[in-house]
Parts: sequence; C-alpha cells; structure tokens
Amino acid sequence: MELIHRPRRLRGNQVLRKMVRETRVDKSSLVYPMFIIEGTNIKEEIPSMEGQYRYSVDRMEEKLAELCDAGVSAVMLFGIPAHKDEAGSGAYAQDGIVQKAFRKAKEACPDLYLIGDVCMCEYTSHGHCGLLRGQEVDNDSTLELLAETALSQVQAGADMVAPSDMMDGRVAAIRQMLDQNGYNSTPIMSYAVKFASSFYGPFRDAAGSAPAFGDRKSYQMDFHNRREALKEAMMDVKEGADILMVKPAMAYGDLIRQVKDQTSLPLAAYSVSGEYSMVKAAAKAGFIDEERILCEMAVSAYRAGADIYITYFAKELAECMDKGMIG
Ligand code: PBG
Repeated sequence: MELIHRPRRLRGNQVLRKMVRETRVDKSSLVYPMFIIEGTNIKEEIPSMEGQYRYSVDRMEEKLAELCDAGVSAVMLFGIPAHKDEAGSGAYAQDGIVQKAFRKAKEACPDLYLIGDVCMCEYTSHGHCGLLRGQEVDNDSTLELLAETALSQVQAGADMVAPSDMMDGRVAAIRQMLDQNGYNSTPIMSYAVKFASSFYGPFRDAAGSAPAFGDRKSYQMDFHNRREALKEAMMDVKEGADILMVKPAMAYGDLIRQVKDQTSLPLAAYSVSGEYSMVKAAAKAGFIDEERILCEMAVSAYRAGADIYITYFAKELAECMDKGMIG
C-alpha cells in the first residue's frame, strides 16, 4: 500500500502526541465559582450539585486555601443573602453578603484574584435579574443598581467585576460608575453572550434564584441565534468590556469559536452548573469516567477558543493537569 499521508505516524508515541498537540491548557486560566451564604459556621452541600457547597464567610477560607494549594488562582463569588426584596437591595449593600466575603477573602488570601458576579437575581424576592415594572424587567432603572452593585464589590475588594444580568448598556454604565469613583483600572468581564439556558437549573437551586414567575427569555439570549451572539459581543466591546464571556460552554463551542475569531478581547467560557451536575450524576451511576470527561469538556472549550475557563471542577482540573492527563 503506497500511502503518502499517514496521520497515524504522529499518534504512535505519547511524547510525540504531546509534542504536536494543538491545544495547551494551563492552571492559570481557571476560575472557580463559589457560593457564599449569610450566617456562621456553615458548609452545606448543594443538593443538585454534589461536591459543591455554600459557605458562610467564616468557613470560606478552608476552600480558598484548598484552591490555592491546587494552583487555582481566581475565584468568582456569588452571594446568597438572608433576605431578598423587590429591589434586590442586598446586591449593593455595603455590608451585603458578597461584600463581606470579598473583604474577608482579600485579607485571608491576598494573592487570590477575586471576581464579582454582578446581578440582581440572587437578591430579588421575585428572582429576576433586575427591577420590575409590572411583569417586565425594566432595563434602564436596573442599570443604576447594577453599577452600584459593581462599585460596592470593588470597594470591598473585588479585583474584577462580571455582569451576568444581560441588561442592555450595563457594561457602559458600570464602566462609568467605576471610573467616576477612581477605579478606572478595574477590568470588566462581560457575560456578553449569555443564553436563556436550562443548564442553569442547579445554580438556581444553589442560590435560590429561580424566577418566581415567567422566565429569563426577555433578557437572556435565544439559543437558536448565532449572529445575535456577535452583535452582543461587539456591543460590549464598544462599551468598554475588557474580557468577553460565552455561557454556557459545553453546548456552545461554535459561539466560543465565532466570538474568538471576530473580536480581539480575551475570551472566557463558563461551564455552568448543569454541565457539572450532569457529569456528577452520570459518574455516580457508573456510566462515565468523571475525570476523563471533565478533562475532555475543558479541552473542548479551550480548543473552541476560550482563554479562561470558569468551572466548578477547577480544583479537579488543576489536579488532572498535574497528573498530565491534559496539558
Ligand atoms: C446570575 C447568574 C446565573 C448564573 C451565573 N450568574 C444564573 C442565571 O442566569 O439564571 C448561572 C451559573 C451556573 O449555572 O453555573 N444571573
């Protein structure tokens, strides 16, 4: 058989396979999302996310230390307040739960990079991501509160803010607020391309943030759309975003690639709660190999174009990288 091309030549040996690898991954790209709850001495498992916990501020340090030891250098914090109200006032309270968490985390682990998720849904009694006018989420009045929320997080110690609300114009509103208050070097990572997705189900259980009525389809994107993803991304570039995000990650590789190719900002992909829980459940049932699957999912996001990977498996992935399973 006279074959000129034999792709298998490059696959016959592990050293060679690694040498010609097209996608390389690194622990420095990992971000771990973490839930902080009001109260003391709490570390409670989230029923829909086995292995993930809600921590009170005084117990959060043990997890932060674990992450640092594993080589994960960034966390994204979500606050779960004791009381929710119509206006989501806990989101922008100076002594709100996430603000307290930032202060404590900065003091306990000064080298850890702290990212604040900026949204209202964990703080509103109705579970929507902004202020209501009737049954509608009102865009422009919400912007002011999002900007306040971002400012209060940065004042408390957040190194970066990440708006996840999907209101129009939020990046510009937050940028202006931060700049006016002397924080012009604090970056904004925009959840630019965020879909109305059933993959967020376990998160809403974790944060008690499921909408009390209706759904999020009037602000989060319709998952049938691709051109619109580019429109959203380009708007956020113009408004001054420093990093863009596509969310969820697993079923949206096409859009990670598209945004990567058509913008010049660093790109994050968020492997969301549903992705985590599906892997956990299937692994528990003995249907899949958890470690190999999470490695494969992560590499698929990087291969699609992600520079940053936000995942509940951050620590496990870091360990897999140490073991040389991916790299
Ligand atoms: C807040 C927010 C959500 C997620 C991140 N920020 C929930 C939502 O939009 O309903 C989801 C993250 C996950 O599922 O892991 N708006």
